[in-house]
Amino acid sequence: MTTTTRPASRHPILVLGGTGKTGSRAAAALRARGADVRVASRSTEVPFDWSDESTWDRVLDGVRAVYLVPLDGAEAGPAFVRRAVAAGVERVVLLSARGVDTPGYFAPDDPATRARLDLEAAVRDAGPAWTILRPGWFAQNFSEGLFRDGVRAGELVLPTGTAAVSFVDTEDIGAVAAAALLDPGHDGETYELSGPRALTFDAALAEIAAAGGRRADYVAADPDEYAAALIAQGVPEVEVAMWTSALGSIHRGLEAAISDGVPRALGRPARDFTEFVRSAAPTGAWTP
Ligand SMILES: NC(=O)c1ccc[n+]([C@@H]2O[C@H](COP(=O)([O-])OP(=O)(O)OC[C@H]3O[C@@H](n4cnc5c(N)ncnc54)[C@H](OP(=O)(O)O)[C@@H]3O)[C@@H](O)[C@H]2O)c1
Repeated sequence: MTTTTRPASRHPILVLGGTGKTGSRAAAALRARGADVRVASRSTEVPFDWSDESTWDRVLDGVRAVYLVPLDGAEAGPAFVRRAVAAGVERVVLLSARGVDTPGYFAPDDPATRARLDLEAAVRDAGPAWTILRPGWFAQNFSEGLFRDGVRAGELVLPTGTAAVSFVDTEDIGAVAAAALLDPGHDGETYELSGPRALTFDAALAEIAAAGGRRADYVAADPDEYAAALIAQGVPEVEVAMWTSALGSIHRGLEAAISDGVPRALGRPARDFTEFVRSAAPTGAWTP
């Protein structure tokens, strides 16, 4: 960790997934520090689509550094890294996930884990300087992601038993990404990122209710019945496999661990879940 900043670059920093939960925070943190940022996704003025290679070169034009947010389970990542190197990219900060290289953390046949490991290897071997971020579960899943509908409906059903989770605030992920892109001292680092404490879903929902959000109950579902219900609803099997694999790591208690990546990268404690709830409640995230 260091507070020195590299001299400002004339080249834009490309932020993929820059309209999403971590990319938007990375872009904001970079802009707050005066960097020239190019956000790219399917909905930006110059579109970028992982499934359409003809969109890749235009967003890479003139870029020397990339915050790379992959799509879960997609195999295009390594090809994009090769294209980025050919375009002159000198630095890549990759969003991966906690536990990817720990046997038994995710399901053995989980396509998301395989794709993440392949992409991590591609980034490490490509040549440019690299930093890998391995976050646990995001706090913003409650306000912008897959838990939000359940909170709004008053019932969050998940196959995660009574396990606790050390939810990481994506503000911290964005701040670590910006530090790795702008400051020396982060090359070759793999940062595992979590919040500063683990809390159960019951406790998380109680905090949201106490902050004026919707009062919702957590309902622990049977993992097999939960997966069967998703399939019956028409969710593709590959998505069900990735989702239940990720939730399984919570059920087995693995997501309660506290990681040191935020303090190590930023020299300050990670943001607490209470801070996240206080900042998300006024945005109307939980207003029915
Ligand atoms: N959620 C968690 O708790 C958690 C934990 C650990 C790791 N992760 C990892 O985080 C990543 C997701 O990051 P996030 O939650 O910040 O993203 P997000 O909020 O789900 O947003 C997805 C971003 O990707 C863009 N996108 C979607 N489809 C695209 C496509 N075909 N081509 C190009 N861009 C596309 C979206 O913009 P457009 O719709 O405009 O294209 C958006 O900017 C995944 O790799 C996941 O494994 C998540």
